[in-house]
Amino acid sequence: MRVGAYPRCCMNQRTPIAVLASGSGSNLQAILDAAGDPSYAAEVVAVIADRPGAKALERSAAAGVPTHVVAWSSYDSRPAFTSAVCDAAARHGAEALVLAGFMRILSPEAMERFPDRILNIHPALLPAFPGASAVPQALAHGVKLTGVTVHLVDEKVDHGPIVYQEAVPVLPGDTEDTLHARIQTVEHRVYPMVVDALARGALDVDGRIVSWERPR
Ligand code: GRF
Repeated sequence: MRVGAYPRCCMNQRTPIAVLASGSGSNLQAILDAAGDPSYAAEVVAVIADRPGAKALERSAAAGVPTHVVAWSSYDSRPAFTSAVCDAAARHGAEALVLAGFMRILSPEAMERFPDRILNIHPALLPAFPGASAVPQALAHGVKLTGVTVHLVDEKVDHGPIVYQEAVPVLPGDTEDTLHARIQTVEHRVYPMVVDALARGALDVDGRIVSWERPR
């Protein structure tokens, strides 16, 4: 099944996306920068954070993109939090959700409302090292290669169909900071590219298998 927004793209309209972030928002920044190119297929119509004070909110405000805080602590359940996130995105007309350092797990309602239209980026080669400590776990395990995974989000953590992966070497003497910095350099190059592919409707999803043609 082809997912995305092919008809809109053919009319030279951009696909509206909401970016969900909890932290520094460097991946958000990479997407905002890419969206400065008129040929980019996605438009960031909202940035949603799960806590006030996230640096991502400053970045979106600086770019003139509407921001929302859907505070995790204000909701008594994950489904209620998820509904509020989806409602905020939908109010801005978002047709896809892009998780960029978003530290909350979404309930199935999000997958129902944005089917095959939720992307996440993870700082390891999944299925190795899922979860919030992927970089220190890779170091502690002694792997010589780790990397970046962009995947569609399903109901399990860091589990959905893989769209793109790229390896990053672990070098002698690496610390968590040096390795994460090397990984993030790759993230900032590849995430905008995959978001653009989703927005163009270029992803074909068949169960766990995602096919798409990378731009040259
Ligand atoms: C990234 O390394 C991403 O892979 C992980 O969280 C980090 C977010 O970084 N999911 P930033 O907030 O985009 O700088």
